[in-house]
Formats: sequence, structure tokens, C-alpha cells
Amino acid sequence: MPVHYVAMTEEIPAGQSRIVTVEGRSIGVYNVDGAYYALHNRCPHEGAPLCKGPVCGTTLPSNVYEYEFGRRGELVRCPWHGWEFEIKSGKSVFDEKVRTRSYKVQVDDGRIGIVW
Ligand code: FES
Repeated sequence: MPVHYVAMTEEIPAGQSRIVTVEGRSIGVYNVDGAYYALHNRCPHEGAPLCKGPVCGTTLPSNVYEYEFGRRGELVRCPWHGWEFEIKSGKSVFDEKVRTRSYKVQVDDGRIGIVW
């Protein structure tokens, strides 16, 4: 499978991301705790540029009137209506059947590549 190199590892430090274009497709590349992930930059809800949304966490399941925040830095929140997606998988938080495409990423000699 072809690999498209899109950045050097030092260009995307932990907690950061970058939007790149590969074969005409907009893709967000993320560094989550030193591991790299790539998501299609399109929200499955109404087509927003998902990867322009903030990296965030979310409220965790909890008892009534208890609000527990977690998963900080593991999610991206759509800038249009706030749906949240796992950066590692592209799955939405509320229903894993709702997802944006994720791409395999490989790092070779400090170069971040998207496997096509
Ligand atoms: S377009 Fe992303 S939540 Fe609506």
C-alpha cells in the first residue's frame, strides 16, 4: 500500500494536530500522547470540517447531578454542532456506528505517513 508522508514528527507535538491534503482528501493528523492518528476531515452529521474543531475530553457516564470529566485530549469536537469523535478510531462518542473514516498512520525515520 502506498504511504503519503505529510509531516515530520517534530512538526506535530503531543496534543497538537495538522490538516493535510492527500490525493485531494482533507485529513487531520493528530498526536495523542506521542502516537499519531489520522481522520477524514468531514463530519458524518452535516459535513463540517471536523478536524477544525477543538481537541477535547468529555463528560463520563455518572450518577444524576454528578459531572465527571475525562478522556482529555482523546476526542475532537465538531465545530458546527458539537458531536464528539475518538481521535484513535473515528467513532462518535454517542454511537460507535456513527464515525468518520480513520486512516492508518506509520512513522518512518521521523516522517509521518498515511497509509493509503
Ligand atoms: S456537522 Fe458535525 S455535528 Fe453537525
